[in-house]
Amino acid sequence: MTQEFNPQVLDDIISAHQCNPSAVIAILQDIQERYHYIPREIFQPLSRRVGLSEARIYAVVTFYENFSLEPKGRFIVKVCDGTACHVRKSTPILERLRKELALSPEKVTTDDQGFTVETVSCLGACGLAPVLTVNDKVYPAMTPDKVSELVESLKKELGYATH
Ligand code: FES
Repeated sequence: MTQEFNPQVLDDIISAHQCNPSAVIAILQDIQERYHYIPREIFQPLSRRVGLSEARIYAVVTFYENFSLEPKGRFIVKVCDGTACHVRKSTPILERLRKELALSPEKVTTDDQGFTVETVSCLGACGLAPVLTVNDKVYPAMTPDKVSELVESLKKELGYATH
């Protein structure tokens, strides 16, 4: 499901912005939105076009945690494991999610890049604990069974054959 890097797409994105160093974050955001990560092939051409060194662009990508150098899933599921969510049993939710998707703490993205599962320390919605987000949409008061239903419906959206 990872899209092949297409230099024309990068050209179009750069052209849609002003071609100067201050546009680099906006350009990177558009690239990440398009590919769900920052392909390494962009560094050289982007550096040339905006007049920043590749090292500077790399530093920007690694500074902002929303940018990823690794391909991520179409659905990025963030399970909160902050204190409020943890005491309201976020661990069984995370375990069910990983089991449903055959993922683990070491393997966070499905092979087809359908799903990425991450943990976060607080989503800022403690009153709704336990909470998870899917591409920034908040799902409150989760349970392992609700997670199974959610995964099922997301798989359908991705066109998986479900039982
Ligand atoms: S601890 Fe989970 S939202 Fe704050």
